Amino acid sequence: MILDFKGVNFAYGNHKILDQSDFSMAEGEFAYLVGKSGCGKSTFLQLCYFNLLPQSGEIKICGFSAKDASQKSIPQLRQKLGVVFQDFKLLSDRTVFENLSYILEINGYPRKKIRNRVEAVLSDLGLLHLKNAFPKTLSGGEQQRTAIGRAIVNEPLLVIADEPTGNLDPATSEEIISIFESINRKGTAILLATHNYDIIDTKGRIYKLEDGKIGRVKIKN
Ligand SMILES: Nc1ncnc2c1ncn2[C@@H]1O[C@H](COP(=O)(O)OP(=O)(O)O)[C@@H](O)[C@H]1O
Ligand SMILES: [Mg+2]
Repeated sequence: MILDFKGVNFAYGNHKILDQSDFSMAEGEFAYLVGKSGCGKSTFLQLCYFNLLPQSGEIKICGFSAKDASQKSIPQLRQKLGVVFQDFKLLSDRTVFENLSYILEINGYPRKKIRNRVEAVLSDLGLLHLKNAFPKTLSGGEQQRTAIGRAIVNEPLLVIADEPTGNLDPATSEEIISIFESINRKGTAILLATHNYDIIDTKGRIYKLEDGKIGRVKIKN
């Protein structure tokens, strides 16, 4: 399992978000996480990249356990993950190219290897012609494609996306979902949270977070 929750509890004060929750995902799986706004999807995803830690229970992600999450293991885990947000969170003072390249610079890759990898990812995402543009000059869809590029440039095992289409129109949302599908076809697992059932492609498995529990559901489109 790439991701495994067993009996996980998480609360903000008295406000329970996860209540003895179990959830697991296999390598290469595409999982949608649905549920009403406020049910705890973003909290759940933050537990998946150890931005939050559980009060009790077991979380294992890509071989890392929340029990021994440390200043050393958290950056190591994040190397295996890519995260995409609703509001893109791009670095506004860096170009599209630089928003991807800094991830590889952190790892100390040689400059030529960085350029080749970043340009290959940008080309796959149809962004190569925008490599020297700054985020504020891009459309929402282009900004989200750049953020997806940043999430996959390091070849993660799992991409976590929190309402990635929340700021986009329906046509652009569809385009973004098909990009996640093509990333998944190459073997990367995807965990995508949304409260918008319209964007869900039923090729993925659908899990619902409700009253602190996560269960698989079927949705007719
Ligand atoms: N840092 C926080 N402190 C206290 N309450 C929070 C915090 N973050 C989220 N919440 C509350 O927890 C609940 C779940 O939030 P969230 O995980 O953002 O849900 P979702 O992503 O499904 O909309 C909401 O009621 C929210 O107000
Ligand atoms: Mg949320």
